[in-house]
Amino acid sequence: MEINYQETTSDLLKRIDIHKQYGGRDIDRWMLDLLNPRNGSRILDVGCGAGKQCFLYHQYTGGTADITGGDVNTELLAKAHSENAKISSPVKFIELDFNKRFPFEDDLFDLESCCFAIYYASDIPATIREMQRVLKPGGRLFSTGPMPENKQLFYDVIKEATGKAIPPMPGSSRYSTQILTAMKKTFSSVEVHIFENPLTFPEVEPFIEYTRASLAEDRKLWTSLFQGTEDFNKVIKAIEIVATQRLKKEGSLVMTKVVGGFVATK
Ligand SMILES: C[S@@+](CC[C@H](N)C(=O)[O-])C[C@H]1O[C@@H](n2cnc3c(N)ncnc32)[C@H](O)[C@@H]1O
Repeated sequence: MEINYQETTSDLLKRIDIHKQYGGRDIDRWMLDLLNPRNGSRILDVGCGAGKQCFLYHQYTGGTADITGGDVNTELLAKAHSENAKISSPVKFIELDFNKRFPFEDDLFDLESCCFAIYYASDIPATIREMQRVLKPGGRLFSTGPMPENKQLFYDVIKEATGKAIPPMPGSSRYSTQILTAMKKTFSSVEVHIFENPLTFPEVEPFIEYTRASLAEDRKLWTSLFQGTEDFNKVIKAIEIVATQRLKKEGSLVMTKVVGGFVATK
């Protein structure tokens, strides 16, 4: 299944913001505790977006690590560059398309990460082989993505509101299957860690905002549910009605993020 799809920048930043505001647990802390990036190590973050993980590594290693972030989205890279300038950090941000050969020699990095991005690759095994190639022997690849149980409430509400089946999502439909299998084939060992984060919405509005940011009009994934703006607004209205009923019945709306963290060693 080829998925030709790119997130829009504002949607991504909106969702990161909502996770921060309504989530009970801190995924950044979980990642750092799990990886414990060493001082002075060489780190690559693939699909770095606005640089979130790169800045966390920079802080955690007290500025001693040699960190590179790569992404195809120039708008997000510009945000990363401007944040970098603000804090005068030496993190390098480069244009990197993970559907192509990475611009690095073999056996270079101690740690590599790819957070919520690998499932956008057009040829997953080829991208994972590239990730393995640029790691030092003994180096680790960390990837995150949604598990099949992720965001049950979100999908249940959409299903009830539209009466239609949820189309296969690039992440949750293959992260724990196709992607994990490809990692196991390429690496000598892979550990699976699970992060659960309940997002508790006391009102319908932030849930709808999250839903809008996930279903935005330009999303080609949801064409079975809506096509133009008019359809989109109708679907959102129907979702709002169902979410309001659920909120009345249950007192709050709890959408649990279930994330798989795979740690593969070369
Ligand atoms: C959901 S965002 C995650 C960004 C960041 N890792 C984070 O957690 O905040 C997915 C990222 O994958 C990037 N991406 C999509 N296709 C890509 C490609 N072919 N090569 C590199 N990055 C890509 C997007 O531009 C986006 O920044």
